[in-house]
Amino acid sequence: MLGVVHPRATARVAPAFNFMGGNMPKQKTIFICTGCGHEAGKWLGRCPSCNVYNSFEENIVEKSRGELRSPVTKALSLPINQTVSLEEEKFPTKISELDRVLCGGIVPGSLILLGGEPGIGKSTILLQICKGQDFPILYVSGEESPGQIALRATRLGKFGDNLHLLAQTDIAAIEVEINSIRPKLLVIDSIQTMTHPDLTSSPGSVTQVRETAAFFMRLAKEQAMATIIVGHVTKEGNIAGPRILEHMVDCVLYFEGERGDGFRLIRAVKNRFGATGEIGIFEMAVHGLSAIVNPSEYMLAGRPINAPGSVITCSMEGSRPILAEVQALVARTRAPNPRRVVSGMDYNRVNMLLAVLEKRAHLNLSEADAYINVAGGMKLTEPACDLAAIAAIAASCKNMAVPPEMLIFGEAGLAGEVRAVPNTQRRLDEGVKLGF
Ligand code: TYD
Ligand code: MG
Repeated sequence: MLGVVHPRATARVAPAFNFMGGNMPKQKTIFICTGCGHEAGKWLGRCPSCNVYNSFEENIVEKSRGELRSPVTKALSLPINQTVSLEEEKFPTKISELDRVLCGGIVPGSLILLGGEPGIGKSTILLQICKGQDFPILYVSGEESPGQIALRATRLGKFGDNLHLLAQTDIAAIEVEINSIRPKLLVIDSIQTMTHPDLTSSPGSVTQVRETAAFFMRLAKEQAMATIIVGHVTKEGNIAGPRILEHMVDCVLYFEGERGDGFRLIRAVKNRFGATGEIGIFEMAVHGLSAIVNPSEYMLAGRPINAPGSVITCSMEGSRPILAEVQALVARTRAPNPRRVVSGMDYNRVNMLLAVLEKRAHLNLSEADAYINVAGGMKLTEPACDLAAIAAIAASCKNMAVPPEMLIFGEAGLAGEVRAVPNTQRRLDEGVKLGF
């Protein structure tokens, strides 16, 4: 368990150098930032590349990292016109919202990273993907026994014999099973539990995550086997480990949502085989995740009518306009530093809007706490939602209600001007459809 030694406790670690020059295995200690993957020869209090404190983790590499890689084979280049495009070979996941995010489906031989907080539904959606296919699939779990997976599967419906379950964490043993089953789809749940036999650091450490993922990457490409890797995201939002995988995988999907309610969202932040703007919207119910057919209606369910500080806006999520409710509560305070609490929007953007209101609309917000929330767990990232936040804050400050059938969107500038946003007509159409 050398990898879990506290970063500062370097004295307890086995010697990194062989002073006697004997036959001891070559060991090398390196320190890797869990935030960005920056490598250093010694422990550092602050990462020079991402500036995060206390992020370095000790890793012992048994062999030189070059030796862990597969041997070099002869490479052959091909003219582009003789290369077969993989577009036609994509297979759909048969979950419409997920196919929308993946731009049609999964490309054979591609490596997909599925990230999200523990318990958000990653294993559930993976089983649902497996359910819809008829080719051989190997589902490797390092967290649950086949019995536990089968128990979950009974809630999701009937599965065919093409789905093989394997509880294993050793990648060498997994490769043996892959060679016997020859799956077209491999699921690794999760990469933080996988172990490379040549490494002594504990599962989940940066070296283990990086080397085991590189191993599955090589297998995926060699065998044209689509591979989905699960990566748990920590509470702080940085994925200890998987974030360093983002650059090497073909596609990165993140699950969003609050575990307390059923709303779930899958967003592609990288896709080598399609666009990334689209999101998939789901609800976690008793029989797994199901698509939300009308997201705007779902978002507006239960909204307060004529309440000061509640404003409806329209955000473009990929090609879809979605209505969402922005709520603000502004309350007088005597504290020297008023509180600013933002959920569902960018904190700095909201602070900028508060400053614009203070300076251009002469609202006295420096003596008030401000709480801004997007109802339903949506995250609004578009500047087109600025005006809704501004209206909600001003309405709460003046204790006046925005008319319930009014839809507000527009980008706010620092001079206090409202700027045009793209897709105006589509946003208006969505609003009209829902009675605005
Ligand atoms: P899970 O897929 O195990 O999460 P992850 O793999 O991301 O850690 O999801 C677990 C949660 O989902 C758990 O709290 C129970 C809930 N759930 C349902 O509500 N309905 C279902 O049909 C299933 C299978 C799970
Ligand atoms: Mg799981």
